[in-house]
Amino acid sequence: MKTVRFGIIGCGLMGREFGSAALRWCHLTDVDVKPEIVAVCDANPAMTAWFKANCPTVRQETSDYRALLANADVDAVYVAVPHNLHAEVYCAAIAAGKHLMGEKPFGIDLAANERIMAAIRQHPEVFVRCSSESIFFPAVQRIAQLFEADAFGRIIQVESGFLHCSDMDPGKPINWKRMMRLNGEYGSMGDLGMHACHFPFRAGWRPANVRAVLSKIVAQRPDGKGGMAPCETWDNATLLCSAADSGGQEFPLTIKTFRIAPGHKNSWYLEVYGTRGSARWSSKQINTVEIMQYQPGGEQPWQVLDMGHEMAFKTLTGVNFEAGFSDSILQMWAAFLHELAHGAPKRRFAGCVTPEEAALSHRLFTAALASQKEARTVEV
Ligand SMILES: NC(=O)c1ccc[n+]([C@@H]2O[C@H](COP(=O)([O-])OP(=O)(O)OC[C@H]3O[C@@H](n4cnc5c(N)ncnc54)[C@H](O)[C@@H]3O)[C@@H](O)[C@H]2O)c1
Repeated sequence: MKTVRFGIIGCGLMGREFGSAALRWCHLTDVDVKPEIVAVCDANPAMTAWFKANCPTVRQETSDYRALLANADVDAVYVAVPHNLHAEVYCAAIAAGKHLMGEKPFGIDLAANERIMAAIRQHPEVFVRCSSESIFFPAVQRIAQLFEADAFGRIIQVESGFLHCSDMDPGKPINWKRMMRLNGEYGSMGDLGMHACHFPFRAGWRPANVRAVLSKIVAQRPDGKGGMAPCETWDNATLLCSAADSGGQEFPLTIKTFRIAPGHKNSWYLEVYGTRGSARWSSKQINTVEIMQYQPGGEQPWQVLDMGHEMAFKTLTGVNFEAGFSDSILQMWAAFLHELAHGAPKRRFAGCVTPEEAALSHRLFTAALASQKEARTVEV
């Protein structure tokens, strides 16, 4: 088993998700490469305590990411810091020759993303991917199989989205995701959009133009110091795109990223409707995928299937047991390490978001901002 020695920069929510996935790597049964977390960095030293308590392989703890990048024992880094730091830290990691899993949105805005893309072009020897676990849920893997078997026929319409109600409560104190300086103008598109774009982009469905309607619903929130602070970023985004499949046939592609979606704690969903077949899934019913195969002139019956644990990378879990968020995170990391070790993803839909796919999402979200501002359809 080949070992890749990792440093983590940003030991908050997502840094620890990776730490936990690495600690249960033995859950994967058909991988030949594994991560070992040897260094951790957070600007707030208290955030590395979890690693100290749980991760005996950590040999370097620092609050300076440059010190971690100078560590010759680190082969690859996972950078999970607020969006305003993506370009600076990702470019430094790439220049230091560290393979990189960067968090979405992969730059706070298009200009930051272009800096990252330039650094990648200068260092083709460095393997770089962007985090999104959305295609690793078993139901999405099944929809991918249908796509690869050409079961949909001509695409009629696709809808993909990510709905949260995490900001429904107007009394919830403000966090960095509501601040333009740290989270960028994209708001929920930057936070949630890459997940919603992952499957459509991997399928080769490219948005040619977009008409976006963006909403700011809660204008201000408690600032945690007894006052109120303005919420500067977009809460909800609906993007209606004209997309084309690889054969050039146009269809409507709708992407929704909502921070304020009543009743949705964390709902990822994907719906593909075609002339021969259709499929739809929402993580609200995480184990269920609905599929319709249509024979001309016949009925249009939806079949409801339980997915169990049909994963891209096999695990110890029995095939009948349902999957969850942390399972798809483990799969995403298996995909990153597999592609790093073997030079290609295990399958087309078992690969992490490429830098080019992340860059396309920036062009889409930037066009969406212009569309909202000018109330018109904008080329992507
Ligand atoms: N893939 C997913 O499902 C998913 C989910 C949530 C967040 N994210 C992404 O992960 C990234 C981090 O989000 P999070 O929710 O983990 O945030 P978080 O606030 O929980 O953690 C960020 C950490 O970065 C640290 N940090 C800030 N500046 C730093 C610096 N200069 N050097 C080192 N550490 C620094 C903070 O102290 C904090 O501990 C964002 O890009 C976000 O979009 C991805």
